[in-house]
Amino acid sequence: IMRHPELWNPNTHTLELYTQLVAFVMAYSFQEPQEEDDDEDDEEQRAPNPPIMVPMADMLNHVSKHNANLEFNPDSLKMVSVRPLRKGEEVFNTYGQMANWQLLHMYGFTEPYPENSNDTADIPVACLYQAAAQDIQSEPERQLFDERFKVLSQMMEENAAFVFSNHGCLTDSELHSALKLLCMSQEEFSEFRDNEGWEDDDEDDDDKISQAFSNEGLPDLKLSWKRLIHQAARLTLRSYGDAELESDRKLMEDGADLKGQSSRRWRALQVRFGQKVILHRLLELTKP
Ligand SMILES: *[C@@H]1O[C@H](CO)[C@@H](O)[C@H](O)[C@H]1NC(C)=O
Repeated sequence: IMRHPELWNPNTHTLELYTQLVAFVMAYSFQEPQEEDDDEDDEEQRAPNPPIMVPMADMLNHVSKHNANLEFNPDSLKMVSVRPLRKGEEVFNTYGQMANWQLLHMYGFTEPYPENSNDTADIPVACLYQAAAQDIQSEPERQLFDERFKVLSQMMEENAAFVFSNHGCLTDSELHSALKLLCMSQEEFSEFRDNEGWEDDDEDDDDKISQAFSNEGLPDLKLSWKRLIHQAARLTLRSYGDAELESDRKLMEDGADLKGQSSRRWRALQVRFGQKVILHRLLELTKP
């Protein structure tokens, strides 16, 4: 902009204007969801569908328990109800299954607790690492542990986290692999490395894993796995600072004051409270 004063006027074309334009475009731009490709032989990555601009697309508000959604057809976009609507009832769209932190980040609002049925809390991989490292007693043990963690880091993306919803772990297969790797015996680990991975057995059935890491399944996990999840959840909770769940609950109940003072603080409280509730539930479910 500075270099081309014949095109741009730095007094008009400010960063502020730019962010406003981006927000404006984002509010109306949609991308047709990519068709799931079951054909595994087809290794070629297809180009993503181009975004389309939809006037009035932001007319409807989002809630997780929405009653309408957008349908993509070859020649039209339709907003359709997903259940019968009563006369006078507000029509809510969904912007996707989104946790409060995502809603706040992308749209600047949150759903008040406990309305967001799609809320989630993350346990950073680093917390699982810390939890597992607590049991190390000698230098050789540390070396063995670090080897395992290196393998784990290669499997997970950088800055990855395990995601928990109100119903259990959403990244169940990653968590399953991580726990298996961290808790296996030294012999099993050597075998694992020689084989360059583990052989799938019946236990690794996707449905079974997802069941095992649901709220119903968690209490029945192996003790060593439960302990690690428990410790990792505890360490994650510590990163929220000193405020106890109950004092946050009180703040939420006294919300009217806070709402008036600062909507940002009020939203931040909702994000934090929802996450803490999920983590506290996880502590209960994995109690040794
Ligand atoms: C998100 O919320 C909807 C509506 O309550 C629910 O049907 C769906 O299962 C939820 N998804 C997750 C991952 O919790």
